[in-house]
Amino acid sequence: MQLSTNHLLGIKELTKDDISLILSTAQQFKEVLQRPIKKVPSLRDVTIVNLFYENSTRTRISFELAEKRLSADTINFAASGSSVSKGETLLDTVNNILSMKVDMVVMRHSASGAPHFLAKHLPGTAIVNAGDGINEHPTQALLDAFSIIERIGSLEGKKILLIGDIMHSRVALSNIWLLKKMGAEVMLSGPPTLIPTYIKEALGVQVEYNLLKALRWCDVANVLRIQLERQNQVLFSSLREYNLSYGLTRKLLNNLQKEIVIMHPGPINRGVEIDSDVADSNQSIILQQVENGVAVRMAVLYLLAGKKME
Ligand code: CP
Repeated sequence: MQLSTNHLLGIKELTKDDISLILSTAQQFKEVLQRPIKKVPSLRDVTIVNLFYENSTRTRISFELAEKRLSADTINFAASGSSVSKGETLLDTVNNILSMKVDMVVMRHSASGAPHFLAKHLPGTAIVNAGDGINEHPTQALLDAFSIIERIGSLEGKKILLIGDIMHSRVALSNIWLLKKMGAEVMLSGPPTLIPTYIKEALGVQVEYNLLKALRWCDVANVLRIQLERQNQVLFSSLREYNLSYGLTRKLLNNLQKEIVIMHPGPINRGVEIDSDVADSNQSIILQQVENGVAVRMAVLYLLAGKKME
């Protein structure tokens, strides 16, 4: 089987079969990663540039590790310290890098649509979106899906709650696309100012502003970070008050009379959207999400490289 696309720009563009193929391939790579020798030769002679115009810890390390495990040659580019500060455009930067015979580009950018722009202008190069502005973070949604399936067996019919700053979250949008395509039910909870009014009708999700009611409904709660760096107006009174209304606390979880799975894409703001005794509990799969990210990104790179070599 093959992917229906030459790029990974967003979950919106993937079919249900594409998502299933990536997740089943990731399962095989997860098994490889349990072996004493974790490296396979699948992407030998493939050169990948990791183009990060925005900060990252997890995604950047995870892609680099995935590339190394697949035996690809990798180049890491950070906008700070490059000629971007001298006024070079995104397209010029990438064209210069590609003239050095690069096969794939993994890109994070603060502008929504930046990887789509590259894919349009560089159709012969596989582009992987590692997070674009407030649009999508497809590999995060894929690793979230993989981690949910690993913990509770499937997505079909499962009730998944996304809590917090939905408006500025590319993780939320990619998760909603993926979960709906795979047959899960999705509910959003957070301050009304952080949940766009169009989203309920447009994406077929439920909205519940009362966090306790939302938690009573769900099987899995995925807690999102407040993206202060993307907010240019006051959307809630203070972080302290946000924590009182929408912070995930042990007290709230003790009120549920059932055990739900807790997720967070990271980075965590402890004491704001999630308390430490929840984030570090046995209910939390936050570090499993990070671990699974490597296998999922190996699967994405492997499948896209296969398409490129057709
Ligand atoms: N989850 C995530 O994208 O984390 P980073 O910003 O550290 O890559």
